[in-house]
Amino acid sequence: MADASQDTAQLTYDGKTYNLPVVEGSEGERAIDIRTLRAESGLITLDPGFGNSGSCRSAITYIDGEKGILRYRGYPIEELASHSTFLEVAWLLLYGELPSEAELATFTDEITRHTMLHEDYRRLFDFMPKNAHPMPVAAAAVAALSTFYREADNEDRIHRAVVRLLAKMPTIAAYAYKHSIGQPPTYPKNDLGYCSNFLHMMYATPCEPYAVDPVVAKALDLLLILHADHEQNCSTSTVRLVGSSLSSLFATIASGISALWGPLHGGANQKVIEMLERIADEEGSADVFLKKAKDKDDTTRLMGFGHRVYKSYDPRAAILKETCKGVIERVGGSSQLLEIAMRLEEIALSDSYFVERKLYPNVDFYSGVIYKAIGIPVNMFTVMFTMGRLPGWIAQWLEMRKDSDFRIGRPRQVYTGSAKRAYVPLGKR
Ligand code: CMC
Repeated sequence: MADASQDTAQLTYDGKTYNLPVVEGSEGERAIDIRTLRAESGLITLDPGFGNSGSCRSAITYIDGEKGILRYRGYPIEELASHSTFLEVAWLLLYGELPSEAELATFTDEITRHTMLHEDYRRLFDFMPKNAHPMPVAAAAVAALSTFYREADNEDRIHRAVVRLLAKMPTIAAYAYKHSIGQPPTYPKNDLGYCSNFLHMMYATPCEPYAVDPVVAKALDLLLILHADHEQNCSTSTVRLVGSSLSSLFATIASGISALWGPLHGGANQKVIEMLERIADEEGSADVFLKKAKDKDDTTRLMGFGHRVYKSYDPRAAILKETCKGVIERVGGSSQLLEIAMRLEEIALSDSYFVERKLYPNVDFYSGVIYKAIGIPVNMFTVMFTMGRLPGWIAQWLEMRKDSDFRIGRPRQVYTGSAKRAYVPLGKR
């Protein structure tokens, strides 16, 4: 953990000066610690959307949005994407170091042995409408894990809960999909790797096995690595906030899934592909669409563009753009959506509206093109993001609980409603 610097910031208000400590992170990021401000001055800070507020110190993920840098535990995302696997990255995020061969083998074995769902629990899916979106189904299923498994209230049970979550999430995701298309679930197979097993559960039927293409499994593994953590984004902050009440781990993760579903967050990947398909089907022209996205009287946005933190190219989008071409070539899919996406990007990056606002492609801009190419149904895209983000959410939850600064999350507000007034009885209003 970084040391507090010796600096202080001074705030002068109403004739009094307050000295506020400045803390510094390990990459030189500085923050004014305002914890004592209200007690000393009566002032709080106001920052809608938390665009300028640090909620915690964290040693998990580092982002430099200006330079387009993303690192997990100090390792550049590009290196992890090239050399690592999702389970190795999950271990890194959870425990802080790359695993040894023995550690990874044990972790993989533990996860493989917890992929099955209890038969009673499995019936939960039968009660969901067939046309339900798989994201709320996944959120409900993950919350319901807390009805089957004991509270994670000591180190051993916490470890088992973490393993169960990572192991069962692909099964839950595949079962949600199978239910939506009216097929019986396919049980996991222990001789398959994490992503291959998921693809097997998605596509094998009692009538026909599914031969997993290793290239498809590898592309999926890469996508999961790229989504594995992204520091204090909306869903992770939700996980920390809900978890700060000491709610169960399963219920806490379910809240993160709900937050991720929104189209301004993880739900953007589904919206991007729908946007590209609409352009392909109806408008045919990227220029017409971009005009709408720039029009302040139109609610259309260029989905997959813009980011609260990145003010340059999202490094995950750069990796995915390159991956798209290889995957489409390998699986022999249509490149039409990729071509439309690249055309949109080209126009947007030379258009003053996007340039002035520093709007670049984010992770969701190209991920959907790959999901589509490898046969993932469009309404499952955000569920794929959930599978990827899971180790990050858990790592942040684990870190929060050990933090010496740990307190229940409870922001303040500036009240703008009526001042005190007398109640008026019914009939006299
Ligand atoms: N298309 C058109 N205009 C945009 C877009 C966009 N995609 N994104 C931002 N803007 C404009 C926005 O209208 C505003 O303009 P002005 O200053 O004239 O009012 C300016 O850029 C700043 O935008 P903002 O909404 O204040 O920025 P924010 O940091 O609050 O929002 C965002 C970030 C990601 C929600 C937003 O850029 C957006 O809605 N993008 C599209 C949805 C999307 O792709 N979401 C996925 C995010 S990455 C994956 C994840 O982590 O969830």
